Amino acid sequence: MTPRRGIDRAMTAAAKLLNWYDRHRRHLPWRAAPGVRPDPYAVWLSEIMLQQTTVQAVKPFYEKFLRIWPRVDMLAAAESDDVMRAWAGLGYYSRARNLHACAKAVAQDHGGRFPDTEEGLRALPGIGPYTAAAITAIAFGKRAIVVDGNVERVVTRLFTIEEPMPRAKPLVREKTDGLTPQKRAGDFAQAMMDLGATLCTPRRPACSLCPLNEECQARAEGRPEEFPVKAPKAERPSRMGAAFFLRRKDGAVLVRTRPPKGLLGGMTEIPGTEWSKDFKLADALQSAPVEAKWKKLPGHVEHVFTHFALRLTIFVASTQVKAPKGARFVKDALLDDEALPSVMRKVIEHARSFEK
Ligand code: ADE
Repeated sequence: MTPRRGIDRAMTAAAKLLNWYDRHRRHLPWRAAPGVRPDPYAVWLSEIMLQQTTVQAVKPFYEKFLRIWPRVDMLAAAESDDVMRAWAGLGYYSRARNLHACAKAVAQDHGGRFPDTEEGLRALPGIGPYTAAAITAIAFGKRAIVVDGNVERVVTRLFTIEEPMPRAKPLVREKTDGLTPQKRAGDFAQAMMDLGATLCTPRRPACSLCPLNEECQARAEGRPEEFPVKAPKAERPSRMGAAFFLRRKDGAVLVRTRPPKGLLGGMTEIPGTEWSKDFKLADALQSAPVEAKWKKLPGHVEHVFTHFALRLTIFVASTQVKAPKGARFVKDALLDDEALPSVMRKVIEHARSFEK
């Protein structure tokens, strides 16, 4: 055995992973260059956006937010409508409300500086255990145990953890703790994420390229794709409803703002019925926002939320009326600037596709 191999053998998994990261890290807009301290505001913004959302979807939103509000005090001073509008399309809108509340808390209660401990961060709106650990490690370079979905996949494979998720979470955390180095904890966390996103993928992982393939038990047993083990999922329930797309003679469209709390709180919507499993099409018109010659469009708009799948029937009408209480007309050209969630963009798209 050559001395070089001996050294390699002695290297910890963390050291191997960090070597790999130095050569193969993904270049993402929120990552500082090696050796440069990242801006905690930028790290926080990226981590909030990356919750339940892919890197590709986040990139343009992250860049837009930093362009409009380059500092946390500027975001804190923004109008909440502007924040919601800038967030529209990214989904999980409670994140946008919490983002704004968090910016205000940092600006007002912490002199514009993010706390540098997990405990301090967790006391802020919208920051849970994962995000607090990620910011502590990535922005402040302090050791913290960072476990996201990618890390869960890597760790359950390394140790062939047979217990199903989410029950295995405490064990995964303990194993991640055992792997996390004292130094470069932020790079280590992001290296684990990159490994999970690029090589240790859910299907057909590229084990031959993996820097941890010698220590991976699942690879040794030839069954990496069996991990993480998942408890069988309950089926997603479905709900139905109708939406009413009303055009005034000048082309303006009737919209309203959803109540501030709850699903899509504070976002703009096309007026509609409740969304329920017992929706009856025959009763839909009772919920129309105004009396008009409503015409049902062929087809449906479908959208999948975390806890249910929605199928909407769309009615259209054109009439000259005053907006009823709680609703307003928006010029067609300004509709796209509204804080419209994806489901409502689909509704508008569906209605427009039937217009000549
Ligand atoms: N997902 C969540 N945080 C991330 C990060 N910092 N880098 C890559 N993917 C992530």
